[in-house]
Amino acid sequence: MSRINKIKGFFDLFPPESTSYMFMEDKAREIFLKYSYQELRTPILEQTELFARSIGQETDVVQKEMYTFPDRKGRSLTMRPEATAGVIRAFIDSPASSSGGVSRFFTLGPMFRYERPQKGRARQFHQVNAEMLGEDSPYADAEIISMLWAYLQALGLQEMTLEINSLGCPLCRPGFDTELKHFLAGNDPEVFCEDCRRRSDSNPLRVLDCKASGCRDMVAGAPRIVDNLCQGCKEHFDKVLEILNSFNIPFKLNPFLVRGLDYYQRTTFEVISDDIGSQSAVAGGGRYDGLVKDLGGPEIPGIGFACGMERLALLLRGIREKPLDFYLAVLHQDAMHKAMQLVQRLRGKGYHGEMGFKIRSVKSHLRQANKKKVKTCLLLGLDEMQKNQVQVKDMSTGVQRAVSQDDVEQALGLVFQPRNNNF
Ligand code: HAM
Repeated sequence: MSRINKIKGFFDLFPPESTSYMFMEDKAREIFLKYSYQELRTPILEQTELFARSIGQETDVVQKEMYTFPDRKGRSLTMRPEATAGVIRAFIDSPASSSGGVSRFFTLGPMFRYERPQKGRARQFHQVNAEMLGEDSPYADAEIISMLWAYLQALGLQEMTLEINSLGCPLCRPGFDTELKHFLAGNDPEVFCEDCRRRSDSNPLRVLDCKASGCRDMVAGAPRIVDNLCQGCKEHFDKVLEILNSFNIPFKLNPFLVRGLDYYQRTTFEVISDDIGSQSAVAGGGRYDGLVKDLGGPEIPGIGFACGMERLALLLRGIREKPLDFYLAVLHQDAMHKAMQLVQRLRGKGYHGEMGFKIRSVKSHLRQANKKKVKTCLLLGLDEMQKNQVQVKDMSTGVQRAVSQDDVEQALGLVFQPRNNNF
């Protein structure tokens, strides 16, 4: 029979790579719970309109990248290209949206975008996502950015740049859009890429973010939105920067950072790494004060971010799961039951290990234990059974001694402590 290939841009995650993903998820839960974020799991499939209305009809994500198909009744469904829209839909459906308080959610999981696969870019990728709803204070912006920063630090990542900008609000943005359109119209249309020729009128802000060299050069002289903010947006942004400064979170102002999704207002940010190639944004986010209302909910402000786990994984290559604490080698069929009891007891005490189910020679068991890079090999044969003992072999020193089965924990404890986490 012929084999069935996996889909282009979709990947299987084997260890040790999957270990990095476990590490990222464990650290996200550890850090985010400290900031009072609760885990929210939303469906992978949503109505297409949810993304069209929130992310924006004009964006690359909605125009070119969504996995959209009709279900059996002809309704248009889309596999989520990001988490924010689904979180907001769920929030609006929940009692939290009428509580009047602040809600904080985090979401971990796969997202789907039909992009050209390359290093750091997949068609199924994974995000660590966080959203705070119900607070528009600049302290909320600073808090969520500091949580993102704390998360990256907890992963052990150092060489990162936080870029930040403000995109204004419905009060000041239209004036800026007009000024920008005016500037763009004054340039030779030939310098624009095809997308920007269209966008320069329908969504001029996106031209600022274009990576095509002609657009980039032309945009260098464009007006800057930070110079055109209304009083409210300017005070808000200045305060965010002041708080970040006071908490020693380094940032770089990037007046051309506009992000690829249309729901943003005011503060927007990205975290960039120079060590992972051209797909250098490891995280991105910002404030979206109009989004809850645009999706049919009350007027509730929000801010959030998402980290791309594939890109973080490129930076976490050193992470390895700890080797097993023990491997129990069974040397005779009659010792099998006792061996299983012993292994279960050790696992109950916090040790990680496995037993070999096949009866083999000592040599072949030790080879197996070596392959698994265990610290200790326990050997149980008929002789040991009769004496209520087990052989304990320290695999690094090669020293082996017989100990009472009642004292195995003590013997293992001499080599290492039982662990309380995986990494
Ligand atoms: P985004 O910038 O589209 O924002 O994606 C966030 C991160 O996801 C990117 O910085 C990148 O690391 C990763 N990413 C995006 N596309 C891919 C891909 N095809 N392959 C691998 N990684 C990818 C959002 O998704 C917003 N929902 C973030 C947000 C949350 N804003 C407010 N709240």
